[in-house]
Amino acid sequence: MNRLQDRVAVVTGAGSGIGLATVRRLSSEGAKVVVVDVDAEAGRAAADEVNGLFIQADVTDEAAVRRMYEQTQETFGRIDIAFNNAGISPPEDDSILTTGLDAWRRVQEVNLTSVFLCCKYVLPYMQRQGSGSIINTASFVAVMGAATSQISYTASKGGVLAMTRELGVQFAREGIRVNALCPGPVNTPLLRELFAKDPERAARRLVHIPSGRFAEPEEIAAAVAFLASDDSSFITASDFLVDGGIAGAYVTPE
Ligand SMILES: NC(=O)c1ccc[n+]([C@@H]2O[C@H](COP(=O)([O-])OP(=O)(O)OC[C@H]3O[C@@H](n4cnc5c(N)ncnc54)[C@H](O)[C@@H]3O)[C@@H](O)[C@H]2O)c1
Repeated sequence: MNRLQDRVAVVTGAGSGIGLATVRRLSSEGAKVVVVDVDAEAGRAAADEVNGLFIQADVTDEAAVRRMYEQTQETFGRIDIAFNNAGISPPEDDSILTTGLDAWRRVQEVNLTSVFLCCKYVLPYMQRQGSGSIINTASFVAVMGAATSQISYTASKGGVLAMTRELGVQFAREGIRVNALCPGPVNTPLLRELFAKDPERAARRLVHIPSGRFAEPEEIAAAVAFLASDDSSFITASDFLVDGGIAGAYVTPE
């Protein structure tokens, strides 16, 4: 499939997990990919793999975000796809009863403020083109509650979802689509780190997934490629669930 031939895509958090799988998928569909990550080693390796451009940036840094789009525009002359995907899920972010303000703020910065900044600075390029697809990574936890809380993470993803919906509505008539991707639990380092420390917590979650397993990053990347392409031309402001049925389930174990 060459659905993204010559489109230019900027992917944040592109050195690992969902971002890395998406870099590979977008490139395989013909896109030129700009790989953004705070981790230089992982980011450079991902960019090398697809002959893309690596930009080291911390997406919580306003000037760095502005510069990464400037550099993309200078290099490729356009920006068609922004996959705002960088996010963290640190163990200090837990129940509201034990989570401190520092952990709360850090997660809000990386997961929510970064998406605000990325959208703010990519939109003017897309407005000038009269086209663009923005995909912001939220999570299934933005649409349902869990007793195994990561309170700031959940709140940040709810914020991503609401902000995305509003942007999708605001810019729809300018040819710009903005969608929130809501993955279920995905087999990535972020999830493995969280559950490696607590296998019982992992087992408790698996019970609730009708598909009976975590997603592979490639399955999420396939959804991103769809949302990035013209195949999704009438989809905007959506909560795009790719969750193995979790959000539709009441009790799943037999
Ligand atoms: N893994 C899951 O189960 C799951 C489920 C739903 C949503 N998500 C979301 O998907 C996104 C990607 O998650 P993943 O599982 O692939 O994570 P990951 O940890 O495998 O990869 C995240 C990448 O983001 C980079 N990053 C972190 N902070 C950054 C910053 N400030 N600036 C730039 N880059 C930064 C990291 O270096 C890393 O390469 C996150 O937003 C996460 O919340 C993950």
